[in-house]
Amino acid sequence: MDGVVLISGSGSNLQSIIDNADDINLKINCVISNKSDAYGLKRAQKAGISTHTIKHDQFPSRGEFDKKLSSVIDVCKPEIIILAGFMRILSTEFTKKYCGKMLNIHPSLLPKFQGLNTHQRVIESGEKEHGVSIHFVTEELDGGPVIAQSTVAILENDNAKSLAERVLAEEHKLYPEVIHWFTQGRLKFKNSKAVLDGKVL
Ligand code: GRF
Repeated sequence: MDGVVLISGSGSNLQSIIDNADDINLKINCVISNKSDAYGLKRAQKAGISTHTIKHDQFPSRGEFDKKLSSVIDVCKPEIIILAGFMRILSTEFTKKYCGKMLNIHPSLLPKFQGLNTHQRVIESGEKEHGVSIHFVTEELDGGPVIAQSTVAILENDNAKSLAERVLAEEHKLYPEVIHWFTQGRLKFKNSKAVLDGKVL
């Protein structure tokens, strides 16, 4: 299945998707970043994947940036759009256009801890467990239907960095698995819900 991956930074999730691409029947047609110094661009280039940088700060509005992003995505004709550490809020128009085929990974057990700095906030709140969620992207930020989660226990001596490392390790396992469900046609977005093998998740 043809796909596009959107990133903003290190791209360790992108790397895990690249490493598993053959096994999960995914062809990454291009990687798009809103930051020119995103290390993930190097990872893509090393894997022979074409890359585009669209710097959001060179557009007068969110809408204009999203229009450009959308035009670059559409050239790649993806059936799946994978947000992997893409740190931009997307306009309603954009999310509606790709609804049902756009996935995001978020480092918390949604609906808990939407937004940024999740690891630090989780520790400060005294939670016992943390984790990662993968969800369909809808117009509600970090609010689309959750597809899958992995849980990580919070240890007594954890800080945001140590916790982030263990959550990331789970992310790298979970994202390729969920993408595979989608490329197999087992995972769908129906009536605003995530459905796997015909069952609402
Ligand atoms: C991950 O924690 C992801 O869940 C979040 O941003 C981080 C991206 O990391 N959305 P990487 O760029 O994939 O290494």
